[in-house]
Amino acid sequence: MICLGIESTAHTFGIGVFDGKPLANKMASYKSQGGIHPREASQYMALHATGVMKDAIKEAGISLSDVDVFAFSQGPGLGPCLRVGASVAKALSKYYEKPLVGVNHCIAHIEAGKYFGAKDPLVIYASGANTQILGFAGGRYRIYGETLDIGIGNALDSFGRQLGLGFPAGPAIERLALKSDSYYALPYSVKGMDLSFSGIVTAASKIKAKREALCHSFQETVFGMLVEVSERALAHAKKKEVMLVGGVAQNKRLRTMLSAMARSHGAKFISPRNEYNADNGLMIALTGWKMHNAGVRQDSLKIRQKWRTDEVDVSW
Ligand code: ATP
Ligand code: FE2
Repeated sequence: MICLGIESTAHTFGIGVFDGKPLANKMASYKSQGGIHPREASQYMALHATGVMKDAIKEAGISLSDVDVFAFSQGPGLGPCLRVGASVAKALSKYYEKPLVGVNHCIAHIEAGKYFGAKDPLVIYASGANTQILGFAGGRYRIYGETLDIGIGNALDSFGRQLGLGFPAGPAIERLALKSDSYYALPYSVKGMDLSFSGIVTAASKIKAKREALCHSFQETVFGMLVEVSERALAHAKKKEVMLVGGVAQNKRLRTMLSAMARSHGAKFISPRNEYNADNGLMIALTGWKMHNAGVRQDSLKIRQKWRTDEVDVSW
């Protein structure tokens, strides 16, 4: 069975093909000087959809008529962007008379990580709009802790915008942070098992220091907070695996900190390659494939901009 998955929640239009193993993963990502402008990002997606599709089909060595099931990112995400992927997926499914599956983007990040070797992990999902620490219990991913305001990636991007680093700022902050050991104290906002990042962005804007030192201080603070809550969740849930997924999982410093924490508890650290951590179509294809195989059929395929991870019944 071949599943073609379409990702279009925020900045990336991606197409993946999966038939029990990855056949293709192609994408085009919107970049800008400021943050994401939803309408601009959706126009970018509409412009690149056909090219990405052609590349993915070519890489997979199939034609569209070979696809058995189409899947798309149904939410959460930005309305105009979600609509692009949904429209393409719905048109293909109608034209080729093949079933259509709506995939939760957050669950897809988790499934991408699990495909690369985790069985029952403590999940640290760190991306642009989301920051959650989760574990599977009773048919759903339950949230041990999460951000109370913006996602850790959005915090990095807002902080980076203040420094003129463009969007996405995460990679540039990571590079600059490597060049400094200076630490400027920033608010450390752990509230019980939850986190808050927006005040740290504001506080960082008031410190006059070199960009390298600011980036180092910012990373150490927000990653330290995330690791603290993750460690408490791990001690409570007693999982044997710690799995880091989402766009921010591409950060080497965060990976090092979390893997050291996992090791000190005798747990294995798992995180997919960058290609599968950043938003991508393959994670949608492999989740759609699993869902369809398990007989999941959905009543509504309307986009869901605020669809939470813990609202999804994971029956596959
Ligand atoms: P979601 O919808 O899952 O919340 P998203 O749509 O924003 O996420 P992702 O690709 O999952 O997309 O994550 C993007 C975020 O990852 C951006 O905020 C970006 O700055 C951040 N990021 C990318 N690379 C790095 C890096 N090397 N270090 C830190 N952050 C990074
Ligand atoms: Fe994402």
